[in-house]
Amino acid sequence: MIHVYSGYFILGLVVFRVVWGFVGSQHARFKDFIFSPREVVSYAKGMISGTAKHYRGHNPLGGLMVMALLLTLLITTVSGLKVYGVEGHGPLAETDTSYFINSANASGHVEQGEEGEDSEEEEFWEEIHEFFANLMLLLIVLHIVGVFVSSKVHDDNLVKAMFTGYKK
Ligand code: HEM
Repeated sequence: MIHVYSGYFILGLVVFRVVWGFVGSQHARFKDFIFSPREVVSYAKGMISGTAKHYRGHNPLGGLMVMALLLTLLITTVSGLKVYGVEGHGPLAETDTSYFINSANASGHVEQGEEGEDSEEEEFWEEIHEFFANLMLLLIVLHIVGVFVSSKVHDDNLVKAMFTGYKK
């Protein structure tokens, strides 16, 4: 249950951040940090050679990471809701009837499946849920590495800037 309620809370935060991406402060808006693929590649090359341009908001790679994290979180939480729904719980429960149909017994009587006997649909959403939860762990590590490398290249402290709102 802690898992499910934490998931709802995270989904709420993601929705808030998406709305904030349209109505929030200047550097929080999507249009401030969504760059063209060319700018992303050019920034990445600059990082390697140590000549990357300094951005006041998110740099192009950071912006791409924000989008990847938001999308991954969204897919993880929505697929979690689907798994929960197929199991007959949560807001998506009513729309998911296949779990009950798949577990109809020989006399055609429809009943809730036994614990442990997953329908194909449940397995499908479980796989998606697990894959994106693991992908997120990878992205989180990459994101932290990116923040430290970027702070070094630009001789700045991005973690401090996150709290104070000020950059060099
Ligand atoms: C960022 C949010 C979330 C993360 C990181 C996360 C992560 C995970 C992970 C790692 C598993 C184990 C997968 C496996 O070994 O099969 C799992 C299982 C599960 N999650 Fe989530 N979850 C999240 C949100 C949610 C939400 C919002 C719900 C439902 C409302 C949910 C429902 C479930 C259910 C029902 C299972 C059990 C699947 C099974 O029967 O194996 N999760 N989750």
